[in-house]
Amino acid sequence: MSAPTALPAPSAVRTARTRHYVVCPPTYFDVVYAINAWMDPSTPVDTDRALQQWADLVELYRSLGHRVDVLPAVPGLPDMVFAANGALVVDGVAYGSRFAHPQRAAEAAHHRDLLAELGIPVHVAEQVSEGEGDLVVVGDVVLAGTGFRTTRAAHAELAALIGRPVVTLELVDPRFYHLDTCLMALDDTTVAWFPGAFSAAGQDVVRTLFPDAVEADLADALVLGLNGVSDGRHVVLPVAATGLAAQLAARGYEPVGVDLSELAKGGGGVKCCTAEMRVRTDVEELS
Ligand code: ARG
Repeated sequence: MSAPTALPAPSAVRTARTRHYVVCPPTYFDVVYAINAWMDPSTPVDTDRALQQWADLVELYRSLGHRVDVLPAVPGLPDMVFAANGALVVDGVAYGSRFAHPQRAAEAAHHRDLLAELGIPVHVAEQVSEGEGDLVVVGDVVLAGTGFRTTRAAHAELAALIGRPVVTLELVDPRFYHLDTCLMALDDTTVAWFPGAFSAAGQDVVRTLFPDAVEADLADALVLGLNGVSDGRHVVLPVAATGLAAQLAARGYEPVGVDLSELAKGGGGVKCCTAEMRVRTDVEELS
């Protein structure tokens, strides 16, 4: 742990905060239905490869100093590896998901059970909401995607629950069907995003809120480069997102590339596999 400092850090030095993540192994991962543009049930899936790639991600998080809890996988729920979709946890409260597609509906209860074990109270969404897939916390604000999965009514329900600003952003490109496929929080004040995934109004909102946002190009977005996880300093993202990694490094972040190519067959990447539990207030700064 680094010593607390009263001195202002140079602007290019980024500070990491230890995080608490929940993940779910791809034990039963498969592509047997198509609920997004990435999924093709005729594509074979190598489950052992998926498990190895996933295990490498978990090991990386632990090596970075983060806490990782594992939600047990359940047979018959092939998308459960995408743990980010089960809830949004913020201020110690969970907004439990209600999935848009029946194929994933049963996942929600398993997330609720784990959240209960962790002592996190759960409000079950009355509206369709897919957790952190569409709800991205940036500092005090929650950016909320809609257009394919999570509804505007859910954004309102969440705002009433947590009493924080929830800012609606409309998604328009089916390849970027969840907000976390085209925008990620880098820290409490900055995001990286692919503008082409958003309506004109949504683009205006992001540009107004985050004038310093990192703009990724389509090539990086198409390898799910924006589906990354940042602790404020280390940004875990697909190794194929080389252009975005260079942009992040130029801004003082430390990009860490991982290969989740097997899971990309389900339309998900690093962030989709990672649910963040925002429960602690006594956060520790990493050196
Ligand atoms: N196959 C899953 C679905 O379509 C992928 C979910 C990816 N998760 C995410 N957070 N974007 O629901």
